[in-house]
Amino acid sequence: MPANLPSPVILVHGGAGKAAPDLTELRRAGVQRAALAGWQVLIGGGSAVETVECAVRVLEDDPAFNAGRGACLNRDGEVELDASIMDGRTLAAGAVGAVQRIANPVTLARAVMGAGRHVLFVGEGARRFAAEAGIEECAPEALIAERQRARWAASREAKAGALGTVGAVARDREGHLAAATSTGGLPFKAPGRVGDSALIGCGTYADDRLGAASCTGDGEAIIKLVLAKSALDLLEAGREPMGTAKHAVELFTARTGADAGIILLDPRGRIGYARNTAQMTCAFILGDESAPQVVD
Ligand code: GLY
Repeated sequence: MPANLPSPVILVHGGAGKAAPDLTELRRAGVQRAALAGWQVLIGGGSAVETVECAVRVLEDDPAFNAGRGACLNRDGEVELDASIMDGRTLAAGAVGAVQRIANPVTLARAVMGAGRHVLFVGEGARRFAAEAGIEECAPEALIAERQRARWAASREAKAGALGTVGAVARDREGHLAAATSTGGLPFKAPGRVGDSALIGCGTYADDRLGAASCTGDGEAIIKLVLAKSALDLLEAGREPMGTAKHAVELFTARTGADAGIILLDPRGRIGYARNTAQMTCAFILGDESAPQVVD
C-alpha cells in the first residue's frame, strides 16, 4: 500500500450472543469470507460504502447469521428484516424496517440512501421503493433457513436475544468511513417490530470526523441509549477505539442490563470491538494485511 494513501480497513461482526459449537465454526468462516470480500473492494479502489454493503451482503447470503437468508422468524413465522447504511463522507444514510421478500436489505438501504430524500422506509412504501429501484422480490420461503424454522417451531415462548445480527465498518483509501448493519431482529418478535439495526445513530453510524460503528444485541435497549452515536461521541473525546468500545458497552450494561456488542473504527482507521455476551464473532483486515484475523 503506498505510504501516502490512508490505510484501508474492514471490520465485520456476526452478532453478539452465544452460538452452538457447529454454528460457531460456520460463523467464523462466514465473517472471514465477508471481510475478504470487503477487502477486495477496498484494494480495488472501492469506496467505504461499497465495501460495507458488499461485506454485509455476504453475511446476509449466509444462513449461519440472523440476517437475510438466515433470519429468525417473527411470532407469525415470517421473516421481517431491518438494515441501515451510512456514508461518513457526506452523512448520507439509508434504512429499511420490517421488510419482507428482500434477500439483501442492505442493498435496499443503500438504494434509499442513494435516492437522497428520505432516510427510512417501512412496509408497503418500502416494497414500492424496492420495485422502483429495480430490487427484485424473492419468495418468502427463500429467506427461511431450516435451523430458524425448527427454532421457531420449538420455542413459541422464545426470549432469546438477537443472536447473529451482522454489520461492517470500513475505511477506504481516501480515508472515508462507512458503516452498515442488517438483521432479522429478535426471535418471535411481534410483527411490525423494528429494532436498532434500522435506526441511524442506534445500530449504525458513520461520520468521517468521529468514526464508524455497528451494533448488535437487544435492539430495544440499544435504541434507548442511541448506542452507535453515543459510542462515537466517546471516541471524539480522544479515547482510543478499543477502550472506547469497552467503555461504551460497560455504560450500556450498567444502565440497561441488556445484551450488546459493538464494532468501531476511528478516523485514523484504528479498530475497537466489545461485547457483554459470551461471543461476538468478528473478522478484520488492517493496512497491509491480506488475511483476516478472527476474534470471538
Ligand atoms: N439488534 C438487532 C435487533 O434487536 O433487532
